[in-house]
Amino acid sequence: MDRYAVIGNPIAHSKSPLIHAAYARQTGQELSYEAILGPLDGFAATVAAFRADCGRGMNVTVPFKLEAHALADRLTPRAAAAGAVNTLAFGADGILGDNTDGAGLVRDITVNLGSVLAGQRVLLLGAGGAARGALLPLLAEQPATLTIANRTESKAIALAEGFRQQHPDVALDACGFAALAGRRFDVVINATAASLADEAPPLPAGLYADGALAYDMMYGRGDTPFLAAARSDGAARLADGLGMLVEQAAESFLLWRGVRPDTAPVLAELRAQLAAR
Ligand code: ATR
Repeated sequence: MDRYAVIGNPIAHSKSPLIHAAYARQTGQELSYEAILGPLDGFAATVAAFRADCGRGMNVTVPFKLEAHALADRLTPRAAAAGAVNTLAFGADGILGDNTDGAGLVRDITVNLGSVLAGQRVLLLGAGGAARGALLPLLAEQPATLTIANRTESKAIALAEGFRQQHPDVALDACGFAALAGRRFDVVINATAASLADEAPPLPAGLYADGALAYDMMYGRGDTPFLAAARSDGAARLADGLGMLVEQAAESFLLWRGVRPDTAPVLAELRAQLAAR
């Protein structure tokens, strides 16, 4: 049987095995999908052993996304732009590295939440790996403006610089948080790691235009700190990153198996599990 797995460290709480098992059942695909704890000093060796033992593909999570990028023989354009790989596909011609995180984000926003990105003023918070991974798919939606804001302003400016040539049609700018004062946005996406410290990024008030969406790539039970702050700042719509998780998995499944699973029932099941916790 074709084997797939997610590799990370830690990995015990990964929802990927549950998600991919549901996709396999739903699409009638015969495959197995497991979680593998990757040794911190043995990523490449663990991948090679899995590949040699009927492995067809892997999802890659913290802290191995950069190593996976280096390991791949070929990269999709979105993985090259992200500088990180979350999906490996093993073929006769070597290892293909892809990054489905940004596509999962965009699909969650545009399909599941029904929000338009085209022509909108979009604010992306953060300039680390999560923000970088989202940039190319966000730009492809042709927002009117895309602003990258980060605690460390220089990192936001450097990130914008690298992408500006590829999409001269989108007004791409970068700044620190304080410089956002007085500006308004239709979609605000939190790609910072602030929630890990149980904090919201320190943003000026009044950022949300009428009907604006606040989107946190993190998820948890109830509002994340960013979403709680967005709610009190008047964001009309709030969404966490559970839909992105399910959608990035669907993009990986599509790459591996050539069929796109229906994410809605899986997202509903995970949402119910989260609420019952
Ligand atoms: P990831 O791969 O998850 O993006 P990362 O590369 O470490 O992780 O980047 C973390 C991002 O979260 C950075 O943009 C970081 O801001 P700095 O560049 O100024 O470090 C941001 N971040 C982390 N903690 C934060 C906090 N408490 N408030 C605001 N931004 C924070």
